[in-house]
Amino acid sequence: MKINKNFLDLEANYLFSTVGKKQREYQAAHPEADVIKLSIGDVTKPLCPAVIEAMHKAVDEMADEKSFRGYPPETGYDFIIEKILKYDFTDRGIKMDKSEIFLSDGAKSDCGNIGDIFAVDNKVAICDPVYPVYLDTNIMFGRKNNVIIMPCTEENGFSPKVPAEGDEIPDIIYLCFPNNPTGSVATRQQLKEWVDYANKHHSVILFDAAYEAFITDNSIPKSIYEIEGARTCAIELRSFSKTAGFTGVRCGYTVVPHDLVFDGTELNAMWFRRQSTKFNGVSYITQRAAEAIYSDIGQKQIQENLNYYRENAKIIFNGLTEAGFKCYGGIYSPYIWFKVPEGYTSWSFFDELLDQCNVVGTPGSGFGKCGEGFLRLTAFGNKERTIEAVERIKAKYGKK
Ligand code: MLT
Repeated sequence: MKINKNFLDLEANYLFSTVGKKQREYQAAHPEADVIKLSIGDVTKPLCPAVIEAMHKAVDEMADEKSFRGYPPETGYDFIIEKILKYDFTDRGIKMDKSEIFLSDGAKSDCGNIGDIFAVDNKVAICDPVYPVYLDTNIMFGRKNNVIIMPCTEENGFSPKVPAEGDEIPDIIYLCFPNNPTGSVATRQQLKEWVDYANKHHSVILFDAAYEAFITDNSIPKSIYEIEGARTCAIELRSFSKTAGFTGVRCGYTVVPHDLVFDGTELNAMWFRRQSTKFNGVSYITQRAAEAIYSDIGQKQIQENLNYYRENAKIIFNGLTEAGFKCYGGIYSPYIWFKVPEGYTSWSFFDELLDQCNVVGTPGSGFGKCGEGFLRLTAFGNKERTIEAVERIKAKYGKK
């Protein structure tokens, strides 16, 4: 038996596993420390009442032979797909067909699994810094030497440049807006440039819109399909995790338009074949939970939770700015991306913050080389604890 040696090309641990391990080790060595975790972007507000009610009802249906459900349809029940179509697309003027939506157990799985339908020798463009799953899963597939890094820096507003004439042409382009970790957003014009580029070079864009719910400005696209031409070049990944607190429930969906045709084959048909072979669908209870988000009351309740996190983002952004840190993000994003003081690396500042303030962040260099010198804090924490964390940072680093 031979192992998949591509795994040996990965960092030993997934970023958030390393961060979690460091926190646990610190806590074990300092049992009295009151550690505040603002690292992984995991929500803390409970599911909204409309979702809970729908889940309870679904559980009762599963208890009765007349309403019991077994295997769900591969890509989702009509009741949820129709809601997604109406609220996320039709109401926003985007044409999408039922068969183009694939319900799943979340964007992270889809983001890794989608690689199954692409050849190994494709060239892949990935932002730096960015959500580590894009790079790690491509390394697992054996594309380590096929990765084109797109630096996202303060100078380019954390937004990658479309390759210039003569530059290497990527076959697959990962874009994530609002961006994880920097919190940057892409304008309509910027996305149009990417769509035109992909169509011209017959590349595919993988658009991760997991944080779209944080966009409150109508001029900023929430979906890549708001851009003309995207149906022939883009796949979109959506998640209910950050939108509705589903990190523990697990549900998301991927959009694969029929117009995506490569080598004479529809990617939609390939993804359907992949999903129906390797995935057995989302549980009925979860699908009813997701459906409840789209009711009027559900929409109102999830906005209340999103506003709570937006308020946290403001508290962190303003507090850190006041303490003298240069901050980015936090406006259309739950993440605050800030520069560590002169003389520190991302990891050395992470260690000091944990030790001196008992606050856990995520080191920027964990998201890529260009993230070196930055730290990310999440706004998904409890408000009182977030205020406490910011006060500690201000007391330690603020101008005296
Ligand atoms: C993060 O902290 O970057 C995210 O929570 C990770 C994820 O969504 O998988």
